Amino acid sequence: MNPLPVDLPPLVVDDDSASEGVAIPTGFETVAQPPEDGFYLRASADGLTLHHAQAPARDRGLRIDLLDGSVERRAAGGRQSPLARALGLRRHPRPRVLDTTCGLGRDSATLAALGCSVVSIERHAVLFALLEDARARAQSAPPNWLAAWPRLIHDDSARWLADTPDEEFDIVYIDPMFDAPRRKARPQKALAWMHELVGTDTDVSLLLERARRTATRQVVVKQHARATPIAPPDRQVEGKAIRFDIYLS
Ligand SMILES: C[S@@+](CC[C@H](N)C(=O)[O-])C[C@H]1O[C@@H](n2cnc3c(N)ncnc32)[C@H](O)[C@@H]1O
Repeated sequence: MNPLPVDLPPLVVDDDSASEGVAIPTGFETVAQPPEDGFYLRASADGLTLHHAQAPARDRGLRIDLLDGSVERRAAGGRQSPLARALGLRRHPRPRVLDTTCGLGRDSATLAALGCSVVSIERHAVLFALLEDARARAQSAPPNWLAAWPRLIHDDSARWLADTPDEEFDIVYIDPMFDAPRRKARPQKALAWMHELVGTDTDVSLLLERARRTATRQVVVKQHARATPIAPPDRQVEGKAIRFDIYLS
Protein backbone atom coordinates (compact mmCIF):
# COMPACT_ATOMS: atom_id res chain seq x y z
CA MET A 1 0.00 0.00 0.00
CA ASN A 2 1.16 3.53 -0.74
CA PRO A 3 -0.92 5.89 1.41
CA LEU A 4 0.40 9.07 -0.21
CA PRO A 5 0.98 9.74 -3.92
CA VAL A 6 4.58 10.84 -3.47
CA ASP A 7 7.50 10.58 -5.89
CA LEU A 8 9.60 7.77 -4.50
CA PRO A 9 13.38 7.78 -4.81
CA PRO A 10 15.04 4.85 -6.61
CA LEU A 11 16.68 1.96 -4.77
CA VAL A 12 20.21 0.64 -5.29
CA VAL A 13 20.68 -2.93 -4.02
CA ASP A 14 24.26 -3.91 -3.17
CA ASP A 15 25.29 -7.51 -3.82
CA ASP A 16 26.24 -8.07 -0.19
CA SER A 17 22.69 -7.31 1.02
CA ALA A 18 21.34 -10.68 -0.17
CA SER A 19 24.05 -12.65 1.61
CA GLU A 20 23.28 -10.77 4.86
CA GLY A 21 19.55 -11.47 4.52
CA VAL A 22 18.62 -7.76 4.36
CA ALA A 23 14.90 -7.35 3.56
CA ILE A 24 14.55 -5.35 0.33
CA PRO A 25 11.63 -2.91 0.54
CA THR A 26 8.97 -3.18 -2.15
CA GLY A 27 7.41 -0.35 -4.16
CA PHE A 28 10.70 1.32 -5.15
CA GLU A 29 12.23 1.25 -8.63
CA THR A 30 15.50 -0.68 -8.45
CA VAL A 31 18.41 0.90 -10.36
CA ALA A 32 21.99 -0.29 -10.93
CA GLN A 33 23.65 3.07 -10.23
CA PRO A 34 22.77 5.97 -7.90
CA PRO A 35 20.98 8.83 -9.70
CA GLU A 36 22.86 12.09 -10.41
CA ASP A 37 20.29 14.17 -8.62
CA GLY A 38 18.13 13.92 -5.49
CA PHE A 39 17.52 11.19 -2.93
CA TYR A 40 18.04 7.46 -3.37
CA LEU A 41 17.87 4.45 -1.05
CA ARG A 42 20.66 1.91 -0.78
CA ALA A 43 20.19 -1.62 0.59
CA SER A 44 23.49 -3.08 1.77
CA ALA A 45 24.73 -5.52 4.41
CA ASP A 46 24.38 -2.64 6.93
CA GLY A 47 20.67 -2.29 6.18
CA LEU A 48 18.72 0.41 4.39
CA THR A 49 20.18 3.94 4.09
CA LEU A 50 18.83 7.12 2.52
CA HIS A 51 21.41 9.02 0.48
CA HIS A 52 21.41 12.33 -1.38
CA ALA A 53 23.26 12.58 -4.70
CA GLN A 54 24.32 16.17 -3.89
CA ALA A 55 25.72 15.30 -0.46
CA PRO A 56 29.53 15.39 -0.03
CA ALA A 57 31.30 12.10 -0.83
CA ARG A 58 32.12 11.53 2.85
CA ASP A 59 28.42 11.70 3.82
CA ARG A 60 27.22 8.36 5.20
CA GLY A 61 23.52 8.95 4.58
CA LEU A 62 20.61 8.60 6.95
CA ARG A 63 19.87 5.27 8.58
CA ILE A 64 17.83 4.53 11.69
CA ASP A 65 19.74 2.62 14.35
CA LEU A 66 17.74 1.48 17.37
CA LEU A 67 20.75 -0.25 18.97
CA ASP A 68 23.26 2.64 19.10
CA GLY A 69 22.31 3.72 22.63
CA SER A 70 20.56 6.94 21.53
CA VAL A 71 17.14 5.70 22.67
CA GLU A 72 18.50 4.93 26.14
CA ARG A 73 20.21 8.34 26.28
CA ARG A 74 16.97 10.13 25.38
CA ALA A 75 15.03 8.09 27.95
CA ALA A 76 17.64 8.78 30.65
CA GLY A 77 15.84 12.04 31.57
CA GLY A 78 13.17 9.68 32.88
CA ARG A 79 9.82 10.98 34.05
CA GLN A 80 11.23 14.51 34.59
CA SER A 81 11.80 15.13 30.89
CA PRO A 82 9.37 17.51 29.11
CA LEU A 83 8.14 14.60 26.93
CA ALA A 84 7.38 12.42 29.99
CA ARG A 85 5.76 15.35 31.82
CA ALA A 86 3.61 16.14 28.79
CA LEU A 87 2.34 12.56 28.78
CA GLY A 88 1.79 12.59 32.57
CA LEU A 89 3.97 9.50 33.09
CA ARG A 90 4.48 10.14 36.81
CA ARG A 91 0.79 9.65 37.55
CA HIS A 92 0.05 7.16 34.77
CA PRO A 93 3.29 5.26 34.12
CA ARG A 94 2.18 2.78 31.42
CA PRO A 95 -0.26 4.45 29.03
CA ARG A 96 -1.28 3.07 25.66
CA VAL A 97 0.10 5.62 23.20
CA LEU A 98 -0.64 6.01 19.49
CA ASP A 99 2.21 7.92 17.80
CA THR A 100 0.52 9.24 14.66
CA THR A 101 3.69 10.82 13.16
CA CYS A 102 6.44 8.24 13.65
CA GLY A 103 9.07 9.91 11.40
CA LEU A 104 12.49 8.58 12.40
CA GLY A 105 10.94 6.72 15.35
CA ARG A 106 12.85 8.66 18.01
CA ASP A 107 9.81 9.61 20.07
CA SER A 108 8.12 6.20 19.62
CA ALA A 109 11.25 4.38 20.81
CA THR A 110 11.83 6.82 23.69
CA LEU A 111 8.23 6.45 24.85
CA ALA A 112 8.54 2.65 24.75
CA ALA A 113 11.79 2.91 26.76
CA LEU A 114 9.93 5.12 29.28
CA GLY A 115 7.37 2.35 29.81
CA CYS A 116 4.55 3.30 27.41
CA SER A 117 2.91 0.73 25.21
CA VAL A 118 3.32 2.25 21.74
CA VAL A 119 1.69 1.77 18.34
CA SER A 120 3.06 3.99 15.56
CA ILE A 121 1.90 5.16 12.16
CA GLU A 122 3.99 6.68 9.37
CA ARG A 123 2.60 7.58 5.95
CA HIS A 124 5.75 8.40 3.99
CA ALA A 125 7.00 5.30 2.16
CA VAL A 126 10.71 6.14 2.61
CA LEU A 127 10.46 6.75 6.35
CA PHE A 128 8.29 3.67 6.76
CA ALA A 129 10.88 1.56 4.90
CA LEU A 130 13.75 2.96 7.03
CA LEU A 131 11.76 2.27 10.21
CA GLU A 132 10.86 -1.26 9.19
CA ASP A 133 14.48 -1.99 8.35
CA ALA A 134 15.68 -0.60 11.70
CA ARG A 135 13.11 -2.61 13.63
CA ALA A 136 14.05 -5.79 11.76
CA ARG A 137 17.79 -5.23 12.41
CA ALA A 138 17.09 -4.54 16.10
CA GLN A 139 15.76 -8.09 16.41
CA SER A 140 19.38 -9.31 16.34
CA ALA A 141 19.82 -8.00 19.92
CA PRO A 142 16.41 -6.70 20.95
CA PRO A 143 16.52 -4.15 23.77
CA ASN A 144 13.89 -4.70 26.51
CA TRP A 145 11.82 -1.73 25.42
CA LEU A 146 11.29 -3.05 21.86
CA ALA A 147 8.56 -5.40 23.14
CA ALA A 148 6.59 -2.29 24.22
CA TRP A 149 6.59 -1.05 20.60
CA PRO A 150 5.06 -4.02 18.78
CA ARG A 151 3.36 -2.31 15.82
CA LEU A 152 4.31 0.06 13.03
CA ILE A 153 1.58 0.85 10.50
CA HIS A 154 2.00 2.30 7.00
CA ASP A 155 -0.98 4.61 6.58
CA ASP A 156 -2.24 8.14 6.93
CA SER A 157 -3.12 8.53 10.61
CA ALA A 158 -6.22 10.68 10.10
CA ARG A 159 -7.60 8.03 7.76
CA TRP A 160 -6.53 5.16 10.04
CA LEU A 161 -8.25 6.79 13.01
CA ALA A 162 -11.46 7.19 11.00
CA ASP A 163 -11.29 3.58 9.73
CA THR A 164 -10.33 1.99 13.06
CA PRO A 165 -12.82 3.34 15.60
CA ASP A 166 -12.55 0.36 17.96
CA GLU A 167 -8.88 0.61 18.99
CA GLU A 168 -8.41 2.36 22.34
CA PHE A 169 -5.48 4.60 23.28
CA ASP A 170 -5.02 6.67 26.43
CA ILE A 171 -2.87 9.18 24.59
CA VAL A 172 -2.55 10.17 20.93
CA TYR A 173 0.76 11.85 20.12
CA ILE A 174 1.30 14.23 17.17
CA ASP A 175 4.66 15.66 16.06
CA PRO A 176 4.04 17.10 12.59
CA MET A 177 6.52 18.71 10.20
CA PHE A 178 6.05 22.44 10.46
CA ASP A 179 7.72 25.10 8.31
CA ALA A 180 11.50 24.95 8.65
CA PRO A 181 12.35 27.09 11.71
CA ARG A 182 14.13 30.35 11.01
CA ARG A 183 17.48 29.94 12.70
CA LYS A 184 20.99 31.15 12.18
CA ALA A 185 22.69 27.78 12.56
CA ARG A 186 22.28 25.25 9.74
CA PRO A 187 19.73 22.61 10.79
CA GLN A 188 20.93 19.10 11.59
CA LYS A 189 21.16 16.90 8.48
CA ALA A 190 18.29 14.61 9.55
CA LEU A 191 15.97 17.58 10.00
CA ALA A 192 17.03 19.25 6.74
CA TRP A 193 16.55 16.01 4.78
CA MET A 194 13.19 15.34 6.44
CA HIS A 195 12.05 18.79 5.31
CA GLU A 196 13.23 18.17 1.76
CA LEU A 197 11.67 14.70 1.62
CA VAL A 198 8.39 15.17 3.48
CA GLY A 199 7.76 18.94 3.28
CA THR A 200 5.30 20.59 5.65
CA ASP A 201 2.33 18.68 7.08
CA THR A 202 -0.53 21.06 6.30
CA ASP A 203 -3.35 18.71 7.30
CA VAL A 204 -2.64 18.57 11.02
CA SER A 205 -5.96 20.17 12.07
CA LEU A 206 -7.89 17.18 10.75
CA LEU A 207 -5.48 14.83 12.52
CA LEU A 208 -5.95 16.71 15.81
CA GLU A 209 -9.73 16.59 15.44
CA ARG A 210 -9.73 12.80 14.90
CA ALA A 211 -7.10 12.26 17.60
CA ARG A 212 -9.30 14.10 20.12
CA ARG A 213 -12.16 11.69 19.37
CA THR A 214 -9.90 8.66 19.95
CA ALA A 215 -7.71 9.52 22.96
CA THR A 216 -9.38 8.48 26.21
CA ARG A 217 -7.14 10.77 28.29
CA GLN A 218 -5.34 13.37 26.15
CA VAL A 219 -3.74 14.38 22.89
CA VAL A 220 -0.19 15.74 22.99
CA VAL A 221 1.09 17.91 20.13
CA LYS A 222 4.80 18.76 19.85
CA GLN A 223 5.51 22.27 18.53
CA HIS A 224 8.35 24.75 18.15
CA ALA A 225 8.58 26.79 21.35
CA ARG A 226 7.17 29.94 19.75
CA ALA A 227 4.72 28.39 17.28
CA THR A 228 1.03 29.25 17.33
CA PRO A 229 -0.99 26.32 18.71
CA ILE A 230 -3.16 24.43 16.20
CA ALA A 231 -6.11 25.01 18.56
CA PRO A 232 -6.23 26.48 22.09
CA PRO A 233 -4.67 23.82 24.36
CA ASP A 234 -5.79 22.93 27.91
CA ARG A 235 -2.24 22.83 29.18
CA GLN A 236 1.33 23.35 27.92
CA VAL A 237 4.69 21.86 28.89
CA GLU A 238 7.73 23.89 27.84
CA GLY A 239 11.00 22.31 26.71
CA LYS A 240 14.21 24.06 25.61
CA ALA A 241 13.34 24.74 21.98
CA ILE A 242 10.03 22.91 21.86
CA ARG A 243 6.65 22.97 23.55
CA PHE A 244 3.98 20.34 24.10
CA ASP A 245 0.34 21.43 23.74
CA ILE A 246 -2.03 19.18 25.66
CA TYR A 247 -5.70 18.63 24.80
CA LEU A 248 -7.60 16.82 27.53
CA SER A 249 -10.37 14.40 26.59
C1 LIG B 1 8.45 15.79 12.56
S1 LIG B 1 8.39 14.19 11.91
C2 LIG B 1 8.16 13.21 13.36
C3 LIG B 1 9.45 12.91 14.08
C4 LIG B 1 9.25 11.85 15.13
N1 LIG B 1 8.45 12.32 16.23
C5 LIG B 1 10.57 11.32 15.63
O1 LIG B 1 10.76 11.30 16.85
O2 LIG B 1 11.40 10.90 14.81
C6 LIG B 1 6.78 14.06 11.22
C7 LIG B 1 6.50 12.74 10.53
O3 LIG B 1 5.11 12.48 10.59
C8 LIG B 1 4.66 11.98 9.36
N2 LIG B 1 3.24 12.35 9.28
C9 LIG B 1 2.72 13.60 9.28
N3 LIG B 1 1.38 13.57 9.22
C10 LIG B 1 1.04 12.24 9.18
C11 LIG B 1 -0.20 11.56 9.09
N4 LIG B 1 -1.36 12.22 9.02
N5 LIG B 1 -0.18 10.22 9.08
C12 LIG B 1 0.99 9.53 9.15
N6 LIG B 1 2.20 10.14 9.21
C13 LIG B 1 2.23 11.48 9.23
C14 LIG B 1 5.53 12.66 8.34
O4 LIG B 1 5.59 11.87 7.14
C15 LIG B 1 6.88 12.71 9.07
O5 LIG B 1 7.63 11.56 8.82
